[in-house]
Amino acid sequence: MIAPESRCREAWNYFVFIVAVLAAVEVPLRIAFGISVSAIARGFEAGLTTVFVADLVVNLVTRLKVPGASGSPQGSTLRRYLCGWFFVDLIAAIPITLVTGGVSHWGGINRLLKLAHFPRLQREWQRRHMMHPSLFRLFAFILLASVFSHWTACGWIWLGGGGASRSPDLLDAYVEALYWTITTLATVGYGDITPQDMPQRIFAIFVMIAGVGSYGYIIANVAGFIANMDLIRAQQKRKIDEVISFLNYRSVPLAMQRRVIEFYRHLWESDACWNESKILEELPESLRSELEVFMHRALIRKVPFLRDAGADFIAALVRKLRPSMLIPNTCFIRKGEPGDSMYFVGSGLIEVVSEDGAEVYATMGEGDFVGEMAMVLDRPRTASVRTVGYCDLYVLEKSDFLKVLEGYPEMKKHIETTTHARLERVRKRDTGDTGDTGGIGDEAL
Ligand code: CMP
Repeated sequence: MIAPESRCREAWNYFVFIVAVLAAVEVPLRIAFGISVSAIARGFEAGLTTVFVADLVVNLVTRLKVPGASGSPQGSTLRRYLCGWFFVDLIAAIPITLVTGGVSHWGGINRLLKLAHFPRLQREWQRRHMMHPSLFRLFAFILLASVFSHWTACGWIWLGGGGASRSPDLLDAYVEALYWTITTLATVGYGDITPQDMPQRIFAIFVMIAGVGSYGYIIANVAGFIANMDLIRAQQKRKIDEVISFLNYRSVPLAMQRRVIEFYRHLWESDACWNESKILEELPESLRSELEVFMHRALIRKVPFLRDAGADFIAALVRKLRPSMLIPNTCFIRKGEPGDSMYFVGSGLIEVVSEDGAEVYATMGEGDFVGEMAMVLDRPRTASVRTVGYCDLYVLEKSDFLKVLEGYPEMKKHIETTTHARLERVRKRDTGDTGDTGGIGDEAL
């Protein structure tokens, strides 16, 4: 049984779609130039038939009811398929050209029906791969515009407008027809190629109407895209103006003003301007927990006492993390002070230093953590800690930590033992027992 959501099935869908696009290129060309069915075309038709029949079978098998699985929704999916898309797939799979021996040039037109799956595939692709909607729309538009231009050029040739009657060179004729199509669709219309009879004029009217429509669509989309980009930039500029006005009103020295503005620039550049808590708040409880654990998985893996903890405990703890951005050279832990929080480094560098800041014990980065000793063992801070550059930290308050631990007494014991052992190691290291002053984030305990 082929799972409808499997990667294999997805790859097969795209393969069938590519084959359908090839048919959408070949069939109109054959009709336009009135080319009789050659051996190559016959081979292509045979290939199309094989793929489309196989697709029909795959579609049926994927929707087959699992034997014994009562109430399976697959039964209704199969019924829905049989009442709808089945006929589209069936008609597209009929090898009319081969059956009729290529009597009519229109034999392969039924193949184009397969393109009707495009909107569904498009939705599926977007759902699975989370591509940017604007980018995705652009890609779909380019594809549709190319196929439509090709069909229009072929229609123009079929009506005798592509110079096919004048030139024996098919490529020449095709390029001329495509040139007419693009100039007409783009509403440029140089007037060097004009319709000569009634059918061509009627055809040109439709192409011009389609051209105006698609031109409007492109302009609206591009304008919307630029407006959106400008909107964000305009908002940022307004914010900077507001901050500068405020700083000037408060007579803040220029150097400090520069630091404030630099902070905002860093905020926007680092994409940290998302209102993380607001976005998370809107999600349902279970999904939010999953997302939070996923976002902080690198931190969790690095913290020894969390490495062995159960999923429930981690989820409860991670929920209490509060993001905080610090500017360069900020001392956020001071030696000797009581410790009411610990910090996880999301990005940037921090230094564990002596009280006067002269001696650097350790430099830490993404995924490391500090401040757990005073918080867990209820003792003064063993060192000072400062930022090197801009840092994104996650703060865990002691009150939150203890609240979570209330529900997990065995974890409380485990954490205290682990942290005592770490403190002993740090003490030995500080007193020169081992000579090692490296980061503590990765050490095995
Ligand atoms: P705490 O004592 O709460 O506050 C200072 C933090 O710096 C401490 O917890 C440890 O997380 C960290 N720390 C202290 N000494 C060292 C060291 N020698 N090497 C690495 N980290 C340290």
